[in-house]
Amino acid sequence: MKKKLVSLLTVSAMTMAMLVGCGETAADTATQTAETVAETAETVADTATEVAETVAETAGNADLADKKVGVCIYQFADNFMTLFRTELENYLVSQGFSKDNITIVDGANDQATQTNQIQNFITQGVDVLIINPVNSSSAATITDLVVGADIPLVYINREPDADEEARWSANNWNVTYVGCDARQSGTMQGEIIVDLGQEKVDLNGDGKIQYIMIEGDPENVDAQYRTEFSVKALEDAGWTVDCLDDQVGNWDQATAQQLVANSLSAHPETEVVFCNNDAMALGALQSIEAAGRKVGEDIYLVGVDALTEALEDVLAGTMTGTVFNDHIAQSHGAADAAINYITGAGNDYYIGCDYVKVTTDNAQSVLDSLK
Ligand code: GAL
Ligand code: CA
Repeated sequence: MKKKLVSLLTVSAMTMAMLVGCGETAADTATQTAETVAETAETVADTATEVAETVAETAGNADLADKKVGVCIYQFADNFMTLFRTELENYLVSQGFSKDNITIVDGANDQATQTNQIQNFITQGVDVLIINPVNSSSAATITDLVVGADIPLVYINREPDADEEARWSANNWNVTYVGCDARQSGTMQGEIIVDLGQEKVDLNGDGKIQYIMIEGDPENVDAQYRTEFSVKALEDAGWTVDCLDDQVGNWDQATAQQLVANSLSAHPETEVVFCNNDAMALGALQSIEAAGRKVGEDIYLVGVDALTEALEDVLAGTMTGTVFNDHIAQSHGAADAAINYITGAGNDYYIGCDYVKVTTDNAQSVLDSLK
């Protein structure tokens, strides 16, 4: 391009010299003019190239290798969030971020600790924050802090409430939520039970389904909705339910094991054990087996997440079913949203994802897809 421009200008200057062509002086002047024009053209072309290079470099800021990402996880000691954060980091690296520029911190299930971590990330001047809040109810405070520092924010896993989400769009803030709708997972848990048929599940034949519910942290919508919608699916199918016990296991296996041991000894008539996640369902299974009961024969058990161990239990018949909480789609979605903020492409204010019902029919294919 540059060469073409120079030679074109040279040719036209020489043509001009030839046209002027009366006497040597005129020709010399024309040649000199042609040379000057050519030189000027070269300078212009050089400048153009330099400008183009600067523009390319600026666009190269979209080069992610020097961008800093801060990630806050509510608690490292959570099976599902461990899968999530591991996949998130690997995917960010695969997209061009440097591993050294990705900092993932453990909120240790304490909001004050996490708020401090967010403040530190702000001081360090990270380019984007990905936050799994300890308390969903602290989201407004977190958003104010982060938006106030002009840093884009991607919430994951624990969805802030509708009022908070409405503020993001109302103010045009670079804030979004990436996650699934917990109502869907609850409904699917209930449907897994309904699909077995009432005859089979109503073991004592009294026309009611005796169940116990083991909840995650009730501050969080995942726990609230799964508790509500799992039972609602039974009622929507026209079944009558009888809640024998409803306890908070805080997403934790050991806690759930203890709770279910107590519940089963107090309520041996239990027909279904609903757990808000698989970690707690694995704890429940330990107590079910310790009580000499057999899943699929004299009790039914469902969880959520599709942890590898739970999928193996579904295949072995020691768990009735679970619901795949797609940590791969969610972590990739969160990373993509972070990238979209960095490049200036922007995001919607809500980025959803679907749960998948898992029974013996598809547990193997879900397991294979996770390898
Ligand atoms: C849920 C998940 C649980 C737990 C919880 C943390 O979506 O099913 O296992 O990780 O998030 O808030
Ligand atoms: Ca019954």
